[in-house]
Amino acid sequence: MSTLQRPAGPTAPGASAGVIHPAWLRVTHWLNALAVVIMVTSGWRIYNASPLFDFMFPKGITLGGWLAGALQWHFAGMWLLFFNGLLYLALNVASGRLLHRFFPVSPRGVLRDVWSALRGRLPHDDLKHYNQVQRFAYLFVMLDIAVLILSGLVLWKSVQFGHLRALLGGYEAARRIHFVAMALLVGFVAVHLAMVALVPRTLIAMLRGR
Ligand code: HEM
Repeated sequence: MSTLQRPAGPTAPGASAGVIHPAWLRVTHWLNALAVVIMVTSGWRIYNASPLFDFMFPKGITLGGWLAGALQWHFAGMWLLFFNGLLYLALNVASGRLLHRFFPVSPRGVLRDVWSALRGRLPHDDLKHYNQVQRFAYLFVMLDIAVLILSGLVLWKSVQFGHLRALLGGYEAARRIHFVAMALLVGFVAVHLAMVALVPRTLIAMLRGR
């Protein structure tokens, strides 16, 4: 296909022909994965110090050793999650990639693609194109991380973020929202890893860019 025939569409900064994921995207994706692992596992240790529900997380899968150690990991991971996420979003918006890759998305489209996937009829030949299930899942996890950060701010600086605390229904409600958002994030990661295992080519592309 000649350059003139190539379909028009916004390309990400630094993207060149044949590149599926530009370098900035791969770097922010893997830093985000690291931040999420730190946040979730240290969060489990913090939870164990004062459980909301009738169970605790096994110590072996938590980070930080003790409450103060886990809090230090959680706060360190928080800056990485926040600034890396901000950079990812800013570059995605500025390059037009957010609109181009993740929209349009509709409940009907998601259901149609889930149905095709269940029958093994969802094509994966063009890794630059996300199907509606991927679009929904990735937009969902972006929103979920935003909810985690906002509810986390209330738990961290409850007095300073008084309006946000009121908006979330108070400190105890913010704690529950933070927990549920964490559980949804872990659910996303489990499904995400299963999908990557089903189509391993996507992992090579997320590592090498093409
Ligand atoms: C070690 C764990 C992980 C692996 C192996 C992995 C792998 C991948 C791969 C291969 C893709 C490309 C999918 C495709 O082209 O169809 C991808 C995209 C993505 N992953 Fe992950 N991922 C991991 C962890 C995470 C975590 C923890 C999150 C967020 C909580 C995340 C969020 C995303 C998002 C939002 C995209 C779409 C990125 C974009 O195109 O802008 N991933 N991941």
